Amino acid sequence: MINIVDNIKSTNTWLTEFGLDNYDSMISLKQSEGYGRLGRFWESDLGGLYFSVNLPNRNLLPIIIGISVADILVKLKLNVKLKWPNDILLNDMKLGGVICHSEGKITVAGLGINISNEPSIRTSTSLVGLGIEINKLSFVDELLEKIKNYLNFNDKDIIDKFLFYDCLIGKQVSWSEGNGTVVTVSEDGRLVVITNHEKIYLTEEIHLND
Ligand code: BTN
Repeated sequence: MINIVDNIKSTNTWLTEFGLDNYDSMISLKQSEGYGRLGRFWESDLGGLYFSVNLPNRNLLPIIIGISVADILVKLKLNVKLKWPNDILLNDMKLGGVICHSEGKITVAGLGINISNEPSIRTSTSLVGLGIEINKLSFVDELLEKIKNYLNFNDKDIIDKFLFYDCLIGKQVSWSEGNGTVVTVSEDGRLVVITNHEKIYLTEEIHLND
């Protein structure tokens, strides 16, 4: 069931507390305590899409949601890229993000996309100004179809699709303990980086070097 409300603390928090079944969903027009990865505050003013859905546990879920969103947005002729592990980029700026956490047999997956809201963060962007209108319900409908379809794909095909949209391959990145060049994303969803002397499989946050 898709629930829609005008205001809520966080669609992810609500679904964690009250969602029961696979594909139970929540859309809110705004959020007062929206959050992103690493507990960061997610600006959630009117105009954005704030959506969460219960999905069956599966490896690569953030990647599956990313490629599903990208598939929909490229049809609108937008320059969409994905930045491992969970960022959706438009013209190299952050348009949206995905966060997933598992609760028993279910994963709560949350998606935020800046549509007609204007995020205050310098590196973020939204669709406002591009003359593009998105009907949130139709978008969510199409998104759920795409996600269900990708859930049947094998890991290699999902990663291949991700690599098609990826913006990091060949780029210099740094993380808490080093820096190197991105080579690929492994079939289990880790970022593969080459340093001066070894190949490293990362799961932690990275920064794109200038
Ligand atoms: C990120 O880029 O760090 C992920 C951001 C995810 C934000 C969405 S908005 C809908 C759902 N509810 C939340 O509180 N967070 C996610």
